[in-house]
Amino acid sequence: MKLLLLITLAALNILPAPKQSEIREGSYTFPKDKKEYSLCVCGDVNRQELADFQEYLKLNGYTQVKKKAGLAFYVGKNRFKGTLPYAATVDEGYRLDVTKGGISVNAAAMAGAFYAFQTIRQLDNGGTFQCCRIIDEPAMAHRGLMFDVVRHFRSVDFVCRQLDAMASMKMNRLHFHLTDDQAWRLQLDSHPEMIKTAFRTNIRHGKTGTYDNGYAAEPPAYVPGTVNFEDGCYGGYYSKENIRRILEYARIRHIEVIPEIEMPGHSTEVLNMHPELRCNCEQKTKRVVCPGKEETFIFFQEVLDEVMKLFPSKYIHVGGDEASKMNWEICPDCARRMQQEGLTSVEQLQSYLIGRMEKYINSKGKKMVGWDEIMQGGLCDNATVMSWRGTEYGYKAIEQGHDVIFSPTTYFYLDYYQGHPAIEPLAIGHHKPLSVTWSAPIYAGKHIIGVQGNLWCEYVTSDKHFEYMLYPRALAIAEIGWSPGEKRNDFGEFCTRAKSFADNLKACGYAVHDFTADSIMDEDYAPVKHLALGAKVDFRGEKYNEKPHFYTILTDGEVGNGDVSLTWARVKGHGEFTVDLAKAQDIHYAGVTCLHYRHSYFPAYVEVYVSSDGKDFRRVGQKISRAFGSPSVKSASTVDFDPSTYKPAYEKDGSQEWSTATYSFVCNEKGIRYIRFVLEPREGFGTMAVDELVIN
Ligand code: ACM
Ligand code: ZN
Repeated sequence: MKLLLLITLAALNILPAPKQSEIREGSYTFPKDKKEYSLCVCGDVNRQELADFQEYLKLNGYTQVKKKAGLAFYVGKNRFKGTLPYAATVDEGYRLDVTKGGISVNAAAMAGAFYAFQTIRQLDNGGTFQCCRIIDEPAMAHRGLMFDVVRHFRSVDFVCRQLDAMASMKMNRLHFHLTDDQAWRLQLDSHPEMIKTAFRTNIRHGKTGTYDNGYAAEPPAYVPGTVNFEDGCYGGYYSKENIRRILEYARIRHIEVIPEIEMPGHSTEVLNMHPELRCNCEQKTKRVVCPGKEETFIFFQEVLDEVMKLFPSKYIHVGGDEASKMNWEICPDCARRMQQEGLTSVEQLQSYLIGRMEKYINSKGKKMVGWDEIMQGGLCDNATVMSWRGTEYGYKAIEQGHDVIFSPTTYFYLDYYQGHPAIEPLAIGHHKPLSVTWSAPIYAGKHIIGVQGNLWCEYVTSDKHFEYMLYPRALAIAEIGWSPGEKRNDFGEFCTRAKSFADNLKACGYAVHDFTADSIMDEDYAPVKHLALGAKVDFRGEKYNEKPHFYTILTDGEVGNGDVSLTWARVKGHGEFTVDLAKAQDIHYAGVTCLHYRHSYFPAYVEVYVSSDGKDFRRVGQKISRAFGSPSVKSASTVDFDPSTYKPAYEKDGSQEWSTATYSFVCNEKGIRYIRFVLEPREGFGTMAVDELVIN
């Protein structure tokens, strides 16, 4: 029975997986290919939502007719009085029947009809619909994505395009990160000066170099809601009209947009415009406002007033993450505030600030949500916590009776690598392939109101890259938010549906990461595409034996395999490999793989140096094989690889264990022609086998 169900789901290819589905014999095709629908409202429905739905169906090529049509919607609570098997008390739930005679949808509210229609779109196989019955409703209320439009601005059109994809995944919350150190993206009447931070002189990305002033003036011909690249002026902002357009687009797709105004940290742009909100002391950080000053509260309350009028969302997000308290420790204004309020720590000072904001937000009939640091110094009464530093703080908040949205780095951070850094675009670090996102052990429960993927954009400059990071991992988050947890037990089955969904996204022009290639990372034989393919390699050191292929295999696009003597460059003792890219290039990755097998051992450490001229080399990093103890060198910069815990890649002859380890260096270097890998052996284990020097 269970097996049958899985086959059914795969056959219907619906994502997120519905609560119940049953495939039936036969199919339905609209007569004469005319997509007509009828809509019967049975009891109260929201009139705006009704009009939105009609508009949405029209946009999707469906025409409404008076008499019962091939697609018939029955919407309203009254529909479920009596004997129907599905008592849809849930607004987002629906029952969908495809029979040979037509398609019918029963839903208690317009949201349910909308989600039924998303399912119908997925069932549409060139105008033919497989007969089935689906009874469906979401597991969680908040199924969201966070877009960081600060680090790099995204146009209104681009945001709307993602709202379309979100709706088809049955996601219903967009957390809009509008302010941060690098820029303020929202035009306000109360603080028009803030959008002076929206333009910069060039596209600078990465973690550094983006906090200073360096602002460019708004170009005279700038159209709000678009990205400006012209004349050394990079950036953009949203006018209120832009926001209204996004809100309407979202509303029609049953997506609530939750604005985030960051405080008290991540506020460099606020302090650049309002230096009077700094602490009254030496500036140990430039990123945090002073909670000792009343002006700070006035500023944020004025901003929130306008934001709360503009955004109809129930929630307002106040950030609260990563606020350094260093200035507060030494600021006389902060000290006075602490004394007046009886606060005994700077953590309590953060709690005081957030607590006042919460009261303000509550006084306007809204709820406050913040990153999990808002728990520091005590959590205020009604706050909802967004658990991002893993899941631990989320569960703590639940214990204290608070609602939680889970968006943990451990599973849901979409700025992390989704494949091997050697072949993926520069990302912020860590490895979170689709399989990891999907495996998040987060299930619906008391106070768990939802899940969310966060796409921070320090490294995500282009729109295409943005989509590439979202898809397909957002699909896994949508599935966790919507589908019953007990059904989440077959990654292969999920991948079948994800592949079908991803193919549709691609057909609509979205950039999608090819997750079917993720497994290549575990394969030793996988060919590798990179900048140093065929590059000349210079070696300093002692070769284990003279082999004619010693140099060529290092950059031939194949990681060495079981044929050790033919496919690995073997060296004795300290070795230096210098790759010549033939011309200066920008690089973001350097990696070398080593083999542990029989008489070849992992190095004690690997270092990478770069140079533009082949003379002056600069070190970009060092990786130490921690298992072998401290190296003899000082100032080790990175210790993050431990071969002793590395799983052998494969076994040969059922007896010999092989393992390989890749020493990866993520960097952001411009104009580099020469890259040098320095391998230092472990004392007494001097032979090393090296292959593929990968540069990207
Ligand atoms: C965060 O990632 N700093 C919320
Ligand atoms: Zn202060």
